[in-house]
Amino acid sequence: MDFPRVADALRWGEEILTAEGINGPRIQATLLLGDAMGFNRAQLLANLRDPVPAAAADTYRRSIRRRAAHEPLQYIRGRAPFLDFEVEVGPGVFIPRPETEMVVEEALSLWQPTAQTPWAVDVGTGSGIISIALTRARPAGRICPIDRSPTPLVTARRNATNLGVADRIAFIRGDLLSPLGADQHEPDSGVRQTVGMVISNPPYAPEDGRDVDPEVSDHEPREAWAAGPEGMDAYARLIPQAANLLLPGRPLVLELGYGQADLVTDILAGDGRWQEPRILPDFNEIPRTLTVQRA
Ligand SMILES: C[S@@+](CC[C@H](N)C(=O)[O-])C[C@H]1O[C@@H](n2cnc3c(N)ncnc32)[C@H](O)[C@@H]1O
Repeated sequence: MDFPRVADALRWGEEILTAEGINGPRIQATLLLGDAMGFNRAQLLANLRDPVPAAAADTYRRSIRRRAAHEPLQYIRGRAPFLDFEVEVGPGVFIPRPETEMVVEEALSLWQPTAQTPWAVDVGTGSGIISIALTRARPAGRICPIDRSPTPLVTARRNATNLGVADRIAFIRGDLLSPLGADQHEPDSGVRQTVGMVISNPPYAPEDGRDVDPEVSDHEPREAWAAGPEGMDAYARLIPQAANLLLPGRPLVLELGYGQADLVTDILAGDGRWQEPRILPDFNEIPRTLTVQRA
């Protein structure tokens, strides 16, 4: 099918996406057609009567079919926004969520790097958004992102390079905080002295996928969302490691899954080395960010 005008292409895409139950079909069709034609949204909407070149029409048709099959929009576009920047994402890399922006903003209110304590550790970095946002906001800081999977680490490094902050980021492949010796009761005192904060948006869904949208479980990497039978495994291992690593007064910042605030608070209490946690809701009033200082 040819599209004599941009407006016809948009209507075609919107109809297909609507039929497949995709939310926001008009805006998604607009973004995909804009990508295919090399236009931003405003340019596209200013040219509704223009014809769609054949190559762009082909690309657009392929993109609409992928989206109609419920492949995430961000994977089709190859990029995702976060705060005031954009990162590259693709299969194997968790897509940044707006909830995590609030987690980062809260972390920034607690973290002021100094020459003696320059480092923050970002556990489960994925596309690198948390590390990149912290580095951009705190030029004196240095960040150590850790991820167990190679694909996110490669992508995070490329994102940091593209955004000009890679020289202040030290990527590590490994399991939670283990690479920093945090399985031991008190790791290397030099490392402890220099780490001012631990932050993580860990996997937090039950591994059977019962709480996960099929668009996520079918397309996003399982290791990014599955965390044991109740979704608590990463928190249960990370919290005692962070207590081993952080000196008194230094913060741990965690993104929480739905309904997990009390369970995570219980883990902190059971560990016994933490002050009273603070829990903040997201824009849907769901408790989402937990901050707590090492006692
Ligand atoms: C929910 S995603 C968060 C990604 C990114 N921080 C964000 O907020 O968009 C969790 C990330 O943790 C990583 N991960 C899962 N288990 C891990 C482990 N045991 N050690 C290190 N990283 C892990 C996954 O590969 C994934 O990139």
